[in-house]
Order: sequence, then structure tokens, then C-alpha cells
Amino acid sequence: MAVIEIVVLAIWIMLPAYIPNNVAVIVGGGPPIDGGRTYKGTRLLGDGKTWRGTLGGILAGIIVAVVLTELAPTMSDLVGFDVPTFSVVAMLSLPTGALLGDIAASFIKRRLDRERGSAVPGLDQYDLVVGSLGLTAIVAWGWLSGVMTWWIFLAILILTPILHVSTNVIAYLLRLKDVPW
Ligand code: CTP
Ligand code: MG
Repeated sequence: MAVIEIVVLAIWIMLPAYIPNNVAVIVGGGPPIDGGRTYKGTRLLGDGKTWRGTLGGILAGIIVAVVLTELAPTMSDLVGFDVPTFSVVAMLSLPTGALLGDIAASFIKRRLDRERGSAVPGLDQYDLVVGSLGLTAIVAWGWLSGVMTWWIFLAILILTPILHVSTNVIAYLLRLKDVPW
């Protein structure tokens, strides 16, 4: 497989997992998931994990997966190799897993006494990869093993931090986020 092909497939497969985080930043706010509850004096998750951001983000990720599945034949013609469609379970598990990973990361950050919005390099970038691909491996292994290769996985590990940092800087410049991470 050519490098460009690997990169296109990595982004294509991960788009339903990437989009939820960005949409959560835009639509987030309102009641926090932890309802303000604390554990040993520290918030369970914090005000950065809200119902609106989570549900809105997951919905957006599902819509993206449906649209990409519709576009797959056209895109395959355009690029000259086959881009995959998403199974119904993968349409749900990629966005849901991405935000579950993000929520788990906030839980870990609070236990480490890191304030809401603080940067924890590695955790911030890979939470969504572990969550989305982990959940998908559990509930849609047939689909995942049919589309994933080690090269695509490696590309995802390299591209995700780059895309994460650049979209967060853009969100910060657009004043959607208070900090550029
Ligand atoms: N957001 C949300 N619900 C989520 C994830 C994100 O509402 N499940 C929104 C919140 O407004 C949050 C913003 O998106 O402040 C940025 O997300 P993120 O960087 O994940 O949260 P932080 O505020 O940095 O909090 P944490 O330290 O817990 O990661
Ligand atoms: Mg953050």
C-alpha cells in the first residue's frame, strides 16, 4: 500500500471518532455528567464533560459515519482504491468509544489532581484512539479486522496527536476553547 493510501484510510476510518470531540467543544455546556459529584474532595469528571457535549458529539459522529458510507463508492472512484463503508455497529461504537475514552481520561486526570482543562500529554491525544478502537474491537471485530492493517494503525498513532493539536489550536484561535490543548 502506498503511504498516501494508508493516510487516507487512517483518516477515513477515524473520522467518526475524531469528529465527536470537536463537536463536543462546540455544543458542550449545561449539566455535567458527574452532576457535580466528588470523590475524596475532587470532582469525579469535572465541568468539561457534559451531557450535551457527549450526546451531541456522538450524534455528529454517527451522522459522519452514515455520510461516509454513502460517499464510499464515489470516494473510491475518486482516489483509485477502495475506502471502506461502516457497519451499523461501527457507526455507533467509533463515536461512542471516542467520547467514553475522553471521559475516562478526565476521570484519570481528576484522580491525578489535574484541573479541568489541564494538559496531560499522551492521555489527551490517545484517549479517543483507545476508546474508539477498543470498543469497536469488542463489539464490531468482524468489521474492524476487515478494514484495519498494522500500517493503518501505525498511521493512526502518528496522525492522531498531530490532528488533535492542530484542531485544538484552531478551536483556541476561534475562541471555542480557553486553552490551546
Ligand atoms: N465537552 C463536553 N462534553 C464532553 C467532552 C467535551 O461538553 N464529553 C466540551 C466541554 O465544554 C469541554 C470542551 O468540550 O470544556 C473541551 O473538551 P476537553 O478538552 O475534553 O475537556 P476539558 O475542559 O479540557 O476538561 P478535562 O480536563 O476534563 O479534559
Ligand atoms: Mg482538555
